[in-house]
Amino acid sequence: MTAVLETPVCTDDALAAALAVTPLAEVVGAEETVPTVSGAQVRYANFDYAASAPALAFVAAAVTKALGQYASVHRGAGHLSQVTTARYERARETVRRFVGGRADDTVVFTRNTTDAINLAAHALPADGEVVVLDIEHHANLLPWQRTGRARTVVARPTLDATLDALEAELASAPAALLAVTAASNVTGEVLPIRRLTALAHRHGARILIDGAQLVAHRPVSLASSGVDYLVFSGHKVYAPFGAGVLIGRPDWLDAAEPYLAGGGATAHVELTETTWHTGAARHEAGSPNVLGAVAIAAAAEAITGLGFELIGYHEHDLLSRLDAGLAALPGITPLRIFEAPDDVPNGAVADRVGIAGFAVAGRAAREVAEYLSDHHGIGVRDGKFCAHPLLSRLGHGDGAVRVSFGLGTGSDDVDRLLAALAQLTGA
Ligand code: ALA
Repeated sequence: MTAVLETPVCTDDALAAALAVTPLAEVVGAEETVPTVSGAQVRYANFDYAASAPALAFVAAAVTKALGQYASVHRGAGHLSQVTTARYERARETVRRFVGGRADDTVVFTRNTTDAINLAAHALPADGEVVVLDIEHHANLLPWQRTGRARTVVARPTLDATLDALEAELASAPAALLAVTAASNVTGEVLPIRRLTALAHRHGARILIDGAQLVAHRPVSLASSGVDYLVFSGHKVYAPFGAGVLIGRPDWLDAAEPYLAGGGATAHVELTETTWHTGAARHEAGSPNVLGAVAIAAAAEAITGLGFELIGYHEHDLLSRLDAGLAALPGITPLRIFEAPDDVPNGAVADRVGIAGFAVAGRAAREVAEYLSDHHGIGVRDGKFCAHPLLSRLGHGDGAVRVSFGLGTGSDDVDRLLAALAQLTGA
């Protein structure tokens, strides 16, 4: 099995370096200052995009515009109700285009990735089993665990061996679904969607891709990859207004009981009996989060406008700078799920989104995170990143530090982080 990774990485180092100097897009709050223990106010350096990315200014403007014309969705004859309903339904189509959805895919707006995977688990056919990897964040573990029909495969030291293990598991007994992340929220390592999809389909299983950490950073196309379901969150794609997405094949969703029972999901109601809609409405009972949907659509437009090539260049250079800087510091151990394949140079898995998880020798992760915040105004995440099984297996059951970035990050931010860590580690 070849170790070639399938998503594009930057090959033009000079261009990438130029693009990484300044943020690629304007984010809300970029100039916000925070206090440090010295009494100074410093510009906040946000390195926690993997948990919640800041809103793009473009997204905030779209939400403000929609708010100015806000009225009920699907529930009013008034002009602004029609405008708002049209905006909500347009957002659905924008999302479909953004992820290359098929014409008949159902696009359900959810609250977030967790909610979307809970909906997918709810729609899993009775008796259908699901295969998952142990590297997932809780959103893609616990909903399946709760069905009592999850079979977990422990990831192997290499990507190829892991795919072989998945293949063996799927061959050993039928499964309805393979549910797998497209990029680890702990290490940023990208998994090969097309190979995983082909693997699942070879064994008669469908595939759900958890795109929470991917869709803001890499192009995805359901139609061309054959992925059956994709989920992601607005708050990780620069649209932190409380919405997420499940997009995919309509049949399981239409066959499932409505996720919530309530108005909007119903075609006809009597006191003792209800006929439910099919399609997205079936699982969107109650007044929907139209501003959340508008925000995701605006983010999709902004990301598409910038283009994944440019985004890839920007993030690749920042990540190279960060990795090289961390490697030069004493006592820093990077977290990795997979060993580098033989054909990838520099001892690194070639493809990672802008996430670096690491431990600092002799320091608790919380101590490092607090030091960066209190002394330097830098926000990182520490802990187990809602991926407890993976952290334990990697030998960091007490937690680690995670740095993550995106469109609003410039190389000066990375340099500031590295300088702060150098002070802490005495480099
Ligand atoms: N999955 C989210 C993160 O990685 C919560 O921060």
